[in-house]
Amino acid sequence: MEFKFDVSDIFPSSVVEINPSLIPPGFAGDRRGLTNVVAKVAEVVNAMGDASAAAQGLSNPITTAERLRKADQTVYLLVDREAKGGKGVVTGMLKTGKKSLYIFDRDGQHHHVSPPCVLDFYVHESRQRTGLGKQLFEHMLKKESAQPANLAIDRPSEKLLSFMTKHYGLQAPMRQMNNYVVFDGFFPDVGSADVTGDTPENGTKQAANGLQTYTGPLGRYGAPRPPCSMGQIIHNQTSIQSTETTGPQIASQ
Ligand code: ACO
Repeated sequence: MEFKFDVSDIFPSSVVEINPSLIPPGFAGDRRGLTNVVAKVAEVVNAMGDASAAAQGLSNPITTAERLRKADQTVYLLVDREAKGGKGVVTGMLKTGKKSLYIFDRDGQHHHVSPPCVLDFYVHESRQRTGLGKQLFEHMLKKESAQPANLAIDRPSEKLLSFMTKHYGLQAPMRQMNNYVVFDGFFPDVGSADVTGDTPENGTKQAANGLQTYTGPLGRYGAPRPPCSMGQIIHNQTSIQSTETTGPQIASQ
């Protein structure tokens, strides 16, 4: 994507990391220069966010400079500094951030996790399927010290699912109610050394990587259930003596 200004002037390398300050790495200048460069970075982030939304058929962009300013997220930009006679073009964008999520595994067990998430990913149409996406993704993995299977992906497109299979062998996505997707390898084995000691009273196991597994009565089918009033009518019961397994009792009961 081309811009009116020289992209290679503000971005010093082929992959740059933009945090909520919107100050590009290596910036050195006075206050006026800072205002100027931040406005240019905001323009790039907005343009790439708009292009990504259009490519995904979304009516509103997921990535905007304004949102980035308010969130603890990172935007990685891929820059071709040689293009346009050395003025440079921006060819890709990848946004990541940690989110607090409840994720179900294949056994229906839910886990409270704060994994690094892939939130928005886009390579310019003129450069797709040439390996740039992989280059950007690999840079992000290194920076975040993450493995592909550690990531949760927000509403992945078919192209992104295909990308994950091709480059990282990740198949059979586990689609979640919250629209995130994870793959096998996301959950450490409950029996493995990765998960610490005893299950405390609240039924939670804490894994070394911060992943919490609810193993006790807080499981999917363990929510408190009211007694069945139809059953009471049939059996002519006045007092409630439910024999059904119920979840944890609420303190006020
Ligand atoms: N159709 C199907 N698979 C595709 C397509 C496509 N049009 N484009 C890329 N892929 C997948 C394929 O597995 C492809 O391998 P192949 O060419 O051998 O079939 C592989 O990606 C290519 O890898 P790269 O060249 O490294 O990836 P690329 O630079 O194309 O970037 C990306 C991948 C970001 C998904 C890009 O295709 C793109 O921007 N797509 C449009 C926007 C989009 O769908 N973004 C993801 C939204 S979901 C989210 O952001 C959380």
